[in-house]
This record gives sequence, C-alpha cells and structure tokens, in this order.
Amino acid sequence: MKLIDGKKVSEEIYNDLKIKVEQLKQQGQKVPHLAAVLVGNNPASQTYVNAKVKTCHEVGYGSTLIKLDENITEEDLLKEIYDLNNNPEIDGFIVQLPLPKHINENKVIEAIRPSKDVDGFHPVNLGRMMLNQPAFIPATPMGIMKLLEAAKIETQGKHCVVIGRSHIVGSPMSILMAKNSYPGNCTVTLCHSKTKNIEEFTKQADIIILAIGKPYFLKKEMIKEGVVVIDVGINRVTSTTTKSGFKLAGDADFDDIVSKCSHITPVPGGVGPMTIASLMYNTLLASQKNIYK
Ligand code: GUN
Repeated sequence: MKLIDGKKVSEEIYNDLKIKVEQLKQQGQKVPHLAAVLVGNNPASQTYVNAKVKTCHEVGYGSTLIKLDENITEEDLLKEIYDLNNNPEIDGFIVQLPLPKHINENKVIEAIRPSKDVDGFHPVNLGRMMLNQPAFIPATPMGIMKLLEAAKIETQGKHCVVIGRSHIVGSPMSILMAKNSYPGNCTVTLCHSKTKNIEEFTKQADIIILAIGKPYFLKKEMIKEGVVVIDVGINRVTSTTTKSGFKLAGDADFDDIVSKCSHITPVPGGVGPMTIASLMYNTLLASQKNIYK
C-alpha cells in the first residue's frame, strides 16, 4: 500500500509558483492577485477563506478579503461582484459557498466574469471544460487529477467509481476521468444518495473517488484488493485522543480499508492541501491570461 501525499505534492506546486512570482517581480511585472468574498459567519467558510488568503501571502501573491454581512441583499452582493469584475488589480476571485438562503447562488456565480472565475464554477467554464476548450477547472477535481498524475496511477481503461454528484467535486470529477487524456480514459460510474446497492459498484472499482461527506462510509467489504482510493471527505468527528475533543475523518474508514488498497489518500494531508494549491495555480493562469487571451 502507498500513501498519496497531498501535502508534498502541494508544496511542490507552491515552490513552482514562488519561483514564477519572483520572475515576475524581477521583470517588473504585476504579481497575481486573488480576492475572496465571504458572506456571513459560517465557521467552516471562515477557516477555508482564511487559509486561501494565508496561502496567497506564502506564495507572494496579492490578496483581498471582502467580508460581507450575513444580511447583505443579493443586489448589493452583485454590485461587489461587478466591482471585482472591473477592477484591473484583481486577476481572479472567488465567492465562498454556501451563501445565505436569501441569496440565489446561481445568479451570483453567473455574475462572475468567466475570465476571473478561478473556482471554475461559472457555466461558461464548466461548458468549456465539457468541450475540451481552455477553461478554469474547479480546484478540488483539478487537485485530484494532479495527485493521480504525481502518484503515476494508471487510469486508461480502468473503472472509476465517483461517489457524490456535487457541482463542486463529483460531477466535474466524473467528466474529467472520462476524458480522452491522462489521467482519464476511465469507464466512469457516478454514484449518489439515490444509488441502490452501492457496494455492487464499489466492489468493481479500480479507482474510487469519495465525496459524500459521510465519515467512515467506505468499508473493506465494499472494495476489491488493489483499489486506489481518493478521499475528498473532511468530516469533524468526536475523538477521545485529541485535546479539542475532535479530529478530522475522511469518507473512507482508513484503518479498515488501508491493507486492501494499492494507493490511498490520507485525511488530513491528501486531497485537502491540493484544493488550495489548484486555486493558486488557476490564479496564476488568470493573471497570465492563459485561459482567456
Ligand atoms: N465551498 C466549498 N468548497 C468551495 C470552493 O472550492 N470554492 C468556493 N467558492 N466555495 C466552496
């Protein structure tokens, strides 16, 4: 069994990005600048956004954090997005999800200019991705592709079972794994909450990508020997062994399945670190006008 070390791969990406930033500075050019919009006080969203801003500092990017009140009107939020779209200092920006219930998430995402949509959530970017055109690829699926590549996982002709159909992870992941490229060329099955007898699919899988948010969901009876498991789950569970009384658990029951896996990503330290690394990479692409000329 081999652990796929996302922390290590993400650090390699950051080292490359730091070198690029230094080169830009030496050439007297502007460094990439990412803005993040945070609406309200969702603790998980606050943690994620703070981590994104901190990483900008670490790699030498500019960053802007826009914190908005939970009760902001949709109209005022759309005005903020309009300003970011038209601010030449900002190369790319994200609006952290979820948004408060009174705001229409689709309307907000569609208001982001596709050339600044470094999350890759805009329909134009998702459509371009489908059509193999230059596009921003959502950060978590892109991070998983980079992990599979770094671990030299064979994917052609393999059966990849993706569990979870979110717009952020599962759906784009299923599209990427079926593409005629490497990683890719898989036969893909997309399972979700209404799938019957899910173990019939997971038992056939050569690669399982888990993104359902259920701690310890995948057990050893559900997999075959030699499977590759990519675990996107970041679940807070109670623990008697940590000071805080909590720890992070994946969607896979790591201790139960590890001996049957050829490769597995740990939680934490697997997919998680790759998400922010991919966002930083997309921000560089945005600043270099690599996707939208
Ligand atoms: N909420 C959970 N994941 C993400 C993400 O990757 N981007 C944004 N904007 N919101 C999220």
